[in-house]
Amino acid sequence: MREAWIIDAVRSPRGRGKAGVGSLSEIHPQRCMAQVLNGLKDRVGFDPADIEDVVAGCGSGSGDHAHDIARMSVLDAGWPITTTGVTLHRFCGSGQQAVTFAAMGVMSGHQEAVIGGGVEFMSRYSPIHANGFHANNEHLAGLHPQVPQGISADLIATIEGFSRNDVDAYAVESQTRAAKSIAEGRFNNALVPMYHLSGELALDRDEHPRPGTTLESLRDLKPSFAAMGAAHVDGYPKPFDDMAKDKYPEIDGVIHVHHAGNSSGVVDGASAVLVTSPDYAKAHGLKPRARIRMTATAGTEPLIMLTAPGPAAQRALDKAGMTKNDIDLWEINEAFASVVLKFMKDIGVSHDVVNIDGGAIALGHPIGATGGMLIGTAVDQLEREDKETALIAMCTGGGMGTATIIERI
Ligand SMILES: CC(C)(COP(=O)(O)OP(=O)(O)OC[C@H]1O[C@@H](n2cnc3c(N)ncnc32)[C@H](O)[C@@H]1OP(=O)(O)O)[C@@H](O)C(=O)NCCC(=O)NCCS
Repeated sequence: MREAWIIDAVRSPRGRGKAGVGSLSEIHPQRCMAQVLNGLKDRVGFDPADIEDVVAGCGSGSGDHAHDIARMSVLDAGWPITTTGVTLHRFCGSGQQAVTFAAMGVMSGHQEAVIGGGVEFMSRYSPIHANGFHANNEHLAGLHPQVPQGISADLIATIEGFSRNDVDAYAVESQTRAAKSIAEGRFNNALVPMYHLSGELALDRDEHPRPGTTLESLRDLKPSFAAMGAAHVDGYPKPFDDMAKDKYPEIDGVIHVHHAGNSSGVVDGASAVLVTSPDYAKAHGLKPRARIRMTATAGTEPLIMLTAPGPAAQRALDKAGMTKNDIDLWEINEAFASVVLKFMKDIGVSHDVVNIDGGAIALGHPIGATGGMLIGTAVDQLEREDKETALIAMCTGGGMGTATIIERI
């Protein structure tokens, strides 16, 4: 099979995901994705007519994110009408899956040049889905009871014995690393500044980080999911904490440790990764930055939901004939602190090589956009640190994990 090369990867800044507060929130999500696509085009210098498809992940399929946001963004970008776009949903892993599908199209020989990435404007909806991931399907709700993701994150901490201090210490390190990376300009290479329709600059830097975060500054934050866990929401058989205890009877109850300071930030943003065949790159004088060595998905129990990054990563390693020792750097999405703590425990990898520029706790997690952002961050890190291999993994709704192994070229 032929190789899939990453030629380049760019992203928007992550704006705070609050309507009227976040600097991107007035921009339409399609417009943001369109600006990212044009940022990639201008930087690489490809002809957009050569792009056979744009695959975009998006975690919300309604409102301003409705229908096929990928195709609408292509049109909004002013690209030729011959370039198509397709939108997919794998919850938080949507953007990573989009890059995987781009790579699969190229590796299979069906396509020569495809863009994978994604977009999400969380300022335009609540990430807590009122009707649940089972979408009012009573049969499924009986077969696989599911709870909001914050309860699942607290359940992981409860089962694994991660204390409030453990998750807060992890969050402080995420903020500290992100602040250092921002101060050193480490993200500048990937950033495409965002503009309003008026031409006025909207945002050219990540807006969510809180540099200077300490254990003391987090101490007084109230757990965000305690009241939710105790509430009996319509359409569910009992309060979420009781549902968790039914599924995991070994716990006395869910201990709520996650809050605004150690959960992924709610933000707006978009990402785009250009994946081509070696033949296309050579014919057009494009210098590859990395190859996609292997991808994998894995499924785990859907109520605890967020435990599959480890199994997905292990499956990718096994299929590639690699071990964890072959990976230099790891980008594991910081959906919640407990997710990464569990990943590091499961795989047996040190925080020293995981999320070295901080992660979504500091920077934010624009659901469908994040996978493309993490892959781009990993490519930048490999070059900066003069390393060879990186593994990117994410947890998703429904109890799934996505993983990608990339190698520097
Ligand atoms: C946890 C969560 C509910 C908190 O939402 P929120 O209360 O709206 O959070 P905010 O960012 O507004 O922060 C609330 C307050 O916490 C405090 N705070 C947040 N981060 C802080 C930090 N690092 N240090 C000190 N205080 C902090 C601030 O006082 C802040 O208020 P302010 O913005 O007015 O200053 C939300 O971040 C969330 O749902 N995250 C997860 C999203 C998700 O599920 N994604 C999918 C993953 S599977």
